[in-house]
Amino acid sequence: MLEVDGLGVSYGGVVALSDVSFTLCAGEILGLIGPNGAGKTTTIDALTGFVVHRGTVQVNGVDISRRSPHERVGAGLVRTWQAVELFEDLTVAEHLAVAAPSAGVRDVFSDILNPRRRTSVQFDRAGHSDAEILERLDLSDVAGSIVGDLSQGTQKLVGVARALASRPEVLLLDEPAAGLDAEESRAFGDRLRSLVDEGLSIVLVDHDVELVMAICDSVVVLDFGSVIAAGSPAVIRNDLRVQEAYLGVAAEPVRNQPDAAPEDAVDAGHADSEPTTGGTP
Ligand SMILES: Nc1ncnc2c1ncn2[C@@H]1O[C@H](COP(=O)(O)OP(=O)(O)O)[C@@H](O)[C@H]1O
Ligand SMILES: [Mg+2]
Repeated sequence: MLEVDGLGVSYGGVVALSDVSFTLCAGEILGLIGPNGAGKTTTIDALTGFVVHRGTVQVNGVDISRRSPHERVGAGLVRTWQAVELFEDLTVAEHLAVAAPSAGVRDVFSDILNPRRRTSVQFDRAGHSDAEILERLDLSDVAGSIVGDLSQGTQKLVGVARALASRPEVLLLDEPAAGLDAEESRAFGDRLRSLVDEGLSIVLVDHDVELVMAICDSVVVLDFGSVIAAGSPAVIRNDLRVQEAYLGVAAEPVRNQPDAAPEDAVDAGHADSEPTTGGTP
């Protein structure tokens, strides 16, 4: 669904991202984790065309590396933002309405010129209305509320709902669970799983490593702009470089048991980061 090869980004002389490659299969969640400043947001910025990048990005086998952010949305790649970027005085429902894709002249021409291009995405074909999207994210009760009046956590969910209203094939979420409490975060994870079960594909950036480990099919770990590990959650838990990146020291491998208090292994960040549940040595 999404194939990323040799992604690189430089800001002036500073290399923020270097040779990042991974593949996201249809109907899967890929977790992208790493300490603060590792390059997670930069990866999403590059994939969605918000920064100039090296390397190639393919969606459904189509190379979109030279396309604008708008064109990448058209190709099915839709993101959320780490900082909430909502219209304070619009209602929740209005946010979805303004995000809905329009079948404009441009799309009609594009269909004529390139009939094999999929304009009606898989998730859209499932026929989700805005009301259903709100229902999915437990936002129906606040559909008529002004967004500025809602809690930070709920505003995060509105950001996700708005992204879904653009009918993505690949949804890129930048720390969507920040501001949710543990229970809300678990419920949110369940909702993401039910969306991918219907064919949506998700890249999830979050510093709640337990959430990522619980719901992702595969995990990519970045540190200093490079991939230091990739694989299943079980493989990542036991990876010494990952433990080192998070703890800043070489650690004993964690026993591969579901109840082995794994948050002690990979839940803390670099010394300057914001660990969610402590665990800094
Ligand atoms: N607009 C920018 N200009 C210069 N440097 C940036 C910019 N955005 C990010 N960086 C740098 O790129 C690196 C990766 O940042 P970022 O992708 O935000 O990390 P993460 O999301 O993993 O915390 C950091 O060193 C950060 O300081
Ligand atoms: Mg970030």
